[in-house]
Amino acid sequence: MARGFRLIFAASLLLMLLDFCNGSTIGICYGRNADDLPTPDKVVQLVQLHNIKYVRIYDSNVQVLKAFANTRVELMIGIPNSDLLPFSQFQSNADTWLRNSILPYYPTTKITYITVGAEVTESPNNVSALVVPAMKNVLAALRKAGLHRKIKVSSTHSLGVLSRSFPPSAGAFSSNHAYFLKPMLEFLAENQSPFMIDIYPYYAYRDSPSKVSLDYALFESSSEVIDPNTGLLYTNMLDAQIDAIYFALMALNFRTIKIMITETGWPSKGSMKETAATPDNAQTYNTNLIRHVINNTGTPAKPGEELDVYIFSLFNENRKPGLESERNWGLFYPDQTSVYNLDFTGRGAVDMTTEANITRSNGTTWCIASNKASEIDLQNALDWACGSGNVDCTAIQPSQPCFEPDNLASHASYAFNSYYQQNGATDVACSFGGTGVKVDKDPSYDKCIYMRVGSNKTMASNTTAISAPSSSSFSCQNEVSSWTSCLFMTSLLFMLNIGRA
Ligand SMILES: *[C@@H]1O[C@H](CO)[C@@H](O)[C@H](O)[C@H]1NC(C)=O
Ligand SMILES: *[C@@H]1O[C@H](CO)[C@@H](O)[C@H](O)[C@H]1NC(C)=O
Ligand SMILES: *[C@@H]1O[C@H](CO)[C@@H](O)[C@H](O)[C@H]1NC(C)=O
Ligand SMILES: *[C@@H]1O[C@H](CO)[C@@H](O)[C@H](O)[C@H]1NC(C)=O
Ligand SMILES: *[C@@H]1O[C@H](CO)[C@@H](O)[C@H](O)[C@H]1NC(C)=O
Ligand SMILES: *[C@@H]1O[C@H](CO)[C@@H](O)[C@H](O)[C@H]1NC(C)=O
Repeated sequence: MARGFRLIFAASLLLMLLDFCNGSTIGICYGRNADDLPTPDKVVQLVQLHNIKYVRIYDSNVQVLKAFANTRVELMIGIPNSDLLPFSQFQSNADTWLRNSILPYYPTTKITYITVGAEVTESPNNVSALVVPAMKNVLAALRKAGLHRKIKVSSTHSLGVLSRSFPPSAGAFSSNHAYFLKPMLEFLAENQSPFMIDIYPYYAYRDSPSKVSLDYALFESSSEVIDPNTGLLYTNMLDAQIDAIYFALMALNFRTIKIMITETGWPSKGSMKETAATPDNAQTYNTNLIRHVINNTGTPAKPGEELDVYIFSLFNENRKPGLESERNWGLFYPDQTSVYNLDFTGRGAVDMTTEANITRSNGTTWCIASNKASEIDLQNALDWACGSGNVDCTAIQPSQPCFEPDNLASHASYAFNSYYQQNGATDVACSFGGTGVKVDKDPSYDKCIYMRVGSNKTMASNTTAISAPSSSSFSCQNEVSSWTSCLFMTSLLFMLNIGRA
């Protein structure tokens, strides 16, 4: 969060506050139910390029764990439902798994959550009774390794755990699941672990288009839905569904458990009757979701509450069974090109639909490597640009015009700019995981000519100055805005608490 931080004055105070108050986060689910995905190493580059800091995987695949080593990405890993039996049966199974499959890669690979079982109530085999015993064994194994405070143990759920979700204040867990949910909630409260829920307004709309408005599902509604019991006004379905969980937890007096959205998203393509599954709707949903979340808006029942959200999913997954939409939740195609544009920081252009007007340059900006980027991030982004990014990197090869000065920042700057100019010169195209910055001074020097929109040739010229990478003020503004929203949130929570006391 403190990347690109530039306020010298009051820096430590600001950092303290940011540390104290981490703010909401956006992560992404890296499902691998496909036979055409890039290797984990390539995926890590892609993830970093798009400045994604939180990734959820569904197992503890060694290649994936290794690929994320030495990155700043925080991983949520999983124990699949099919493994719950051995984990629930013997403590030694959990101990062995931790020792052999996790500890060798930790903390080089940052692991912060372990999900034990996923949506067990949807599982064809009745494994629900195994979840809590398995969670306890995993936690005990972590405790022995001294990691129980660093790695949280939880389990994900579908909205099917609720018997009622509307109005939100009437949210209630289904009594059919009480036999495993009650001990699970006790476990979560005791260990300060979040309640993890997968929420899909898409399905609510698809399955009852006459009852649910598409705008409401997409965060685009101009009208509000009122909860008659509380008077709270809902402008979008996600908030209503989250609050249904809050109220269900409160009804059982679990007031301290936080909610985490471990999956949500929108498919970009579907079968004939899935008319809402379009790239436009998917872009609208995810863009609005990110803005809603990073704003720390919270929900009507919990205004200002931080919310960590994982978007499903990184890639389209061709081996998923079911309707066409199931294979089209990805933000990226397997060849790593975007299905649609999405700004993960949520702080770029104000509105995706008007992005062209706001952020497209008219050829007078360039994109270069930030002087604040770490070497490893720059190298990853450079490799990506010259590989999957389809940039012609000939000019930075030995004896070519842009080879000298032979350093990473110079080579990355050349490649970043070419990618930027070839991809519409949008803010997103100069993101490179936060390692790219836009400049309005032509970085060309000697015979090394940086591309502009409409020109992609390296031409000869004869000036000598190399323009040093300069930073945009953009990241500084980010810090201030997250700082103020954080303060705002803190005071709001404070006032609310007083109000309730
Ligand atoms: C699953 O198993 C538990 C106990 O093992 C039982 O109480 C519950 O009713 C079962 N659920 C279903 C759907 O069969
Ligand atoms: C973000 O918060 C600001 C200030 O609270 C508000 O004006 C703005 O509408 C919010 N944006 C969204 C997308 O909720
Ligand atoms: C963006 O540009 C298009 C075409 O030039 C125009 O129709 C549209 O009104 C513009 N939008 C805004 C918000 O300026
Ligand atoms: C490009 O934009 C800059 C700054 O907005 C402006 O000064 C310049 O005249 C524009 N050039 C063209 C060719 O539109
Ligand atoms: C620019 O690049 C595109 C493909 O990226 C190519 O089709 C086009 O011929 C190039 N133009 C020039 C002037 O090199
Ligand atoms: C660059 O300038 C030098 C002298 O300033 C000259 O000798 C050389 O021929 C020039 N090169 C080109 C490509 O113009």
